[in-house]
Amino acid sequence: MEHIKIVFISDIHFSPGQDWSQCIWKYTPNEELPGLMDRFVDIVNHELRPDLVIELGDRIIDVNSERDVENTQSIYERIDARIGCPVFHVDGNHDFVHVGKQELAKLLHNPELPFVRVFKGYKCIFFDSLDPMLEGVGGAVSDKQLAWLEHEMNSDDLPKIVFSHHPLNYHEIHRNFIIPKETVPLMKVANCDTVRAIIESGRNFLFHAAGHLHWWSFRVSPKGTYIVNPPFSAAHPDRTNAPGWFMEADVWPDGKIDTKIHSIVPRRVIGDFVNR
Ligand SMILES: [Fe+2]
Repeated sequence: MEHIKIVFISDIHFSPGQDWSQCIWKYTPNEELPGLMDRFVDIVNHELRPDLVIELGDRIIDVNSERDVENTQSIYERIDARIGCPVFHVDGNHDFVHVGKQELAKLLHNPELPFVRVFKGYKCIFFDSLDPMLEGVGGAVSDKQLAWLEHEMNSDDLPKIVFSHHPLNYHEIHRNFIIPKETVPLMKVANCDTVRAIIESGRNFLFHAAGHLHWWSFRVSPKGTYIVNPPFSAAHPDRTNAPGWFMEADVWPDGKIDTKIHSIVPRRVIGDFVNR
């Protein structure tokens, strides 16, 4: 069985034309994002040529239903419509404030969460970590979805990769000043111990990938690897020159994962991390 190459992008927070100068979003230079997305598409199409692109949520900053629909559509047009391989999404807490999940799926030409797709023999499992949303930032996984996850993790022997917006365990983020202390408990799925127990006891679990933290993290456990994608747009502590971070992952059926973290500004690979 061949290896698969996946490119991850998350926390784009595209919401132009607003005055964000008085809040935390002042660190997200929205005027830079169209150019950064153009360069991302170019790198994906001409340099990396992955099998899949997965966007891990928080595409926008929520404003109101009209703007949020418009900005979600812009993401589809700027990324999905121009990338030469399949693009899939999971919803983040900012995507879902004013627009329903069904409508988000329609706007992005994606199946409604949760869903499964098989690529090159790898089973990709996309679940909804806002089921329900908690305090506008966090999320949990419902009993119904836990049963679905358990079924999908055990119904075949395919190697399995799992995706959600919220991480499935604690990641070291105390130096991430963009996340206030009181928000830290909302930085992982509330019932993550249950979700982890289900996926780790399933058949052939390789790794889980999330966004949400605005912080890169790569944790290896004997039962699987847990990765958090770095944010695309955060320039923090500066207000300009957002780095355009994203991640390239090469995955093998025996569970080997080789991830490279890319920055667009400046354009380079800033790290290469392998789980063995
Ligand atoms: Fe988030």
